[in-house]
Amino acid sequence: MSAHHAIRCRYLSQEDLLRAGCLDLRMAMEAAEHAMTAFAAGDVLFPEKIVQIFNQDTQERINCLPATFLPEKVCGVKWVSVFPPNPVKYGLQNLSAVIILSEIETGFPIAFMEGTLCSNMRVGAMGGIAAKHLSREDSEVIGFIGSGEQAKMHLIAMKTVRPGLKECRIGAKTDEEEAQFIREMAPLMPEMEFVAAGTDLQKATDGADIIVTATSAQAPLLKAAWMKPGAFYSHVGGWEDEYAVAKQCDKIVTDDWETVKHRTQTLSRMYKDGELADSDIHGNLIDLVSGAKPGRESPDERTYFNAVGLAYTDVGIAHAMYQRALEADAGSELTIQDSMIFEHEDLKDWVRL
Ligand SMILES: NC(=O)c1ccc[n+]([C@@H]2O[C@H](COP(=O)([O-])OP(=O)(O)OC[C@H]3O[C@@H](n4cnc5c(N)ncnc54)[C@H](O)[C@@H]3O)[C@@H](O)[C@H]2O)c1
Repeated sequence: MSAHHAIRCRYLSQEDLLRAGCLDLRMAMEAAEHAMTAFAAGDVLFPEKIVQIFNQDTQERINCLPATFLPEKVCGVKWVSVFPPNPVKYGLQNLSAVIILSEIETGFPIAFMEGTLCSNMRVGAMGGIAAKHLSREDSEVIGFIGSGEQAKMHLIAMKTVRPGLKECRIGAKTDEEEAQFIREMAPLMPEMEFVAAGTDLQKATDGADIIVTATSAQAPLLKAAWMKPGAFYSHVGGWEDEYAVAKQCDKIVTDDWETVKHRTQTLSRMYKDGELADSDIHGNLIDLVSGAKPGRESPDERTYFNAVGLAYTDVGIAHAMYQRALEADAGSELTIQDSMIFEHEDLKDWVRL
């Protein structure tokens, strides 16, 4: 009787997910494309996120981001902490997250999983999907401003989409950060030639086929003159490029322009300053994925992509990771309850009256 009322779910640590082969940007891109298509079809419940900011100056916060995929009958939530002072103050990562998935037949949880991996893969996956539609197929050189966690995941996504990439240039705030990026990424891509720019951001990006900015800075670091004709630019952080970068681009694509324009990154600032209009935006990524709008149309076009993050794509990717983990029998069973409260035979010993 009581076993019937047991609730168990799968616990997946980051290492469980990695060992199960979940660091697979091809899988993440497929899941994100599926999520965007499902959302466009009205198959996704996507309520407003809940934001709790603990320090207005540093923007230390914890956000709660739910979404439900109705056809798959899966509901998920990402509980994500963003503590920007962490790296300098404690030598710790800025972002940490957990994800809970529930099925919506009985409403019971099915997975409790580490979420930083999924969250960072989502950022990379959206950039990768954009690159698939907007970068040149013969791209060989990628240049980064910023060498942190998002930059590393973006490199994996870009290499997945453009396997011809053979040179990766890194420009960061310090030589040590550039060296760390190369130390961590070179073993994953033995064929890639890595070049540390020695904090010279022009050296990192000038003439690259693909440019990525993923920094914690709030400054116009990327200059328009460094973006050659035919280049694709993925903008990940806040204010990272001078306005002339977007102005010279032939196509500007976002994950969701209505959301982007009310935030604080370069395109949002340009919009608020009257330097960019709705009509300057080529479309949202789903328009390219669905084929409603064209991606790159000529070799010399300059293209620009900016995403702020659509949390339903996190849940879609988390569900794909969970399924892969199940196939690999990864993780462990987490007992939420063995039976209902008043079925416990020992309850008389435990209750405090
Ligand atoms: N668009 C999205 O969906 C999304 C999602 C998550 C994070 N982000 C943003 O992406 C950015 C990067 O995140 P992260 O987790 O990789 O951060 P991180 O702290 O790991 O890395 C930050 C990097 O910025 C570099 N940097 C800072 N100031 C610089 C300067 N003046 N010149 C050159 N490099 C400089 C640092 O050297 C470091 O390599 C953040 O702004 C974060 O908020 C965006």
